[in-house]
Amino acid sequence: MTIISLTNVTKTYGGSGRSVPALRGVDLAVQSGEVFGIIGASGAGKSTLVRLINLLERPETGTLTVNGRATAGVGGRELLKLRREIGMVFQHFNLLSAKTVAENVAFPLQLAGVRSRAAIAARVDALLTRVGLSAHADKYPRQLSGGQKQRVGIARALACRPAILLCDEATSALDPETTRSVLRLLSEINQELGLTIVLITHTMDVVRQICHRVAVLDAGRIVETGPVEAVFLHPRHPATLALVREAVREEKAAGNALRTAGDVFRLTFRGAATYSPILGHIAREHGVDFAILGGQIGTIRDEPFAQLTIAFSGGDVRSALARLDAAGVDVEELTPADATLGAQADVVSRELADVA
Ligand SMILES: Nc1ncnc2c1ncn2[C@@H]1O[C@H](COP(=O)(O)OP(=O)(O)OP(=O)(O)O)[C@@H](O)[C@H]1O
Ligand SMILES: [Mg+2]
Repeated sequence: MTIISLTNVTKTYGGSGRSVPALRGVDLAVQSGEVFGIIGASGAGKSTLVRLINLLERPETGTLTVNGRATAGVGGRELLKLRREIGMVFQHFNLLSAKTVAENVAFPLQLAGVRSRAAIAARVDALLTRVGLSAHADKYPRQLSGGQKQRVGIARALACRPAILLCDEATSALDPETTRSVLRLLSEINQELGLTIVLITHTMDVVRQICHRVAVLDAGRIVETGPVEAVFLHPRHPATLALVREAVREEKAAGNALRTAGDVFRLTFRGAATYSPILGHIAREHGVDFAILGGQIGTIRDEPFAQLTIAFSGGDVRSALARLDAAGVDVEELTPADATLGAQADVVSRELADVA
């Protein structure tokens, strides 16, 4: 079921004089229960998109539906109610410094009109337990680490049982280790509650860690969208290539090697295939030699992957490739044109920036 949809949404800033087109026809459909990433470089339009989805601003043209409701013309109490169905998590936490942790989490419940102090206390208690902060209920935000502050931010966002959690650069102010633990918490909450999470970020690593699907926003347009595995491992658009930095560097390296080495392939191993000793097998069985030109290993949502750029020479390359294919390894032949895609990505992004 689609829980958020945008159809041909545009947004331009500045009425008279210099106008800035921030979104230029965005189509997007987020499914209920998924963790959906929206990634883009600075100025791509991410924050603009957030302000539309959380109903702080209206699209100039196009349609937006949130939690199955068309948002055009919705105002007053209805708008407040719809907004409450979206929990917000912010980059800089936005906690109230004069209130304790418990009071921060209680605040949205009070705003929503919950009167019973016992009901509020019970809900706050459950939320703080869930985010691992029950021992810190009476502390003030200044007494907490960044990661703890963001856990309070998450508890507060969940207080009114939203249908959607919208995270705007929620881990950008945190170190890598804390980022991992906060992303793990979000992932657990997604699974436990079936809560839809929309995660706005400029970092592919964040997307790789928890998102199911991702859309790449570039100069106000969605230029690529799909399962994270596909977008991360096989980026197509220059803007995506630029965000998947390792891949860009790897292809440049491959470009250098193309002049000297044999046939160059990019092999993508996923899941169990990642750890299979298949390269040794094909060297022995098919007599091919190989040189590793570049590569990366890592995980996508806890599933391991490896991507290697390899030059094969000698032996029976064709049957070696068939053997790899049978073992579930994704094989792509890299042509010199592919190998220079990295350089192209830089040029095209600059051109797009100039147009903007
Ligand atoms: N209030 C505003 N008035 C005029 N222009 C704006 C306003 N807000 C954003 N813009 C412009 O709209 C475009 C998109 O901005 P937006 O803040 O949505 O990008 P972003 O992807 O969130 O960038 P960042 O990663 O730097 O936060 C940019 O060109 C920006 O300069
Ligand atoms: Mg922004």
